[in-house]
Amino acid sequence: MALQLGDDAPDFTADSTEGELHFYDYLGDSWGVLFSHPADFTPVCTTELGRVAALKSEFDKRNTKVVGLSVDGLSDHEKWSQDIEDVTGSKLNFPLVADKDREVADKYGMIHPNASDTMTVRSVFVIGPDKKVKLTLTYPAATGRDFNEILRVIDSLQLTAKHKVATPADWRQGEDVIITTAVSDDEAKERFPGYETVKPYLRKTKQPA
Ligand code: BEZ
Repeated sequence: MALQLGDDAPDFTADSTEGELHFYDYLGDSWGVLFSHPADFTPVCTTELGRVAALKSEFDKRNTKVVGLSVDGLSDHEKWSQDIEDVTGSKLNFPLVADKDREVADKYGMIHPNASDTMTVRSVFVIGPDKKVKLTLTYPAATGRDFNEILRVIDSLQLTAKHKVATPADWRQGEDVIITTAVSDDEAKERFPGYETVKPYLRKTKQPA
């Protein structure tokens, strides 16, 4: 069965461009993003890996470690790394797992046989410090991901893990948020003074610090 929200993210040990990677040890107490690529030396993947390398400081600010994965071998990954830098101007600065035997891809359900029997789809798993799956995304090979959206989602996941709030459609860091329905009006007055009632079930407040 496919991994679902709240499931334990499977642990693994695998070769990577930064040496042998022990996934749980590598994540430590951080948040994590594990994202797969259909294959090495492919155009969309090249742009994606360069983009994530360019955004690394944004992931760092969010205490989030990124790990890429492709079902090719380490020597291909190493050669491809140079192409990624040549094309995007960004040097790979996070581990890229060499999952040649597809052990990790199988654990995470990254191969979707109706899309391809051999290549992974573009999966994204956001993993919390408790090693539970907090978000999954699946894109087809021909559609590159928007990594600003992944940063935005991490902002929401981290905020809503800490406060009794939810984030509305298209929410961005710093914008008003929604008080969850589990919070009574009395508790809301205490926790979120000055909140606005739009409908009895939709109460808005400033983003908690
Ligand atoms: C790409 O990264 O461009 C790609 C990879 C596999 C299939 C199609 C496109």
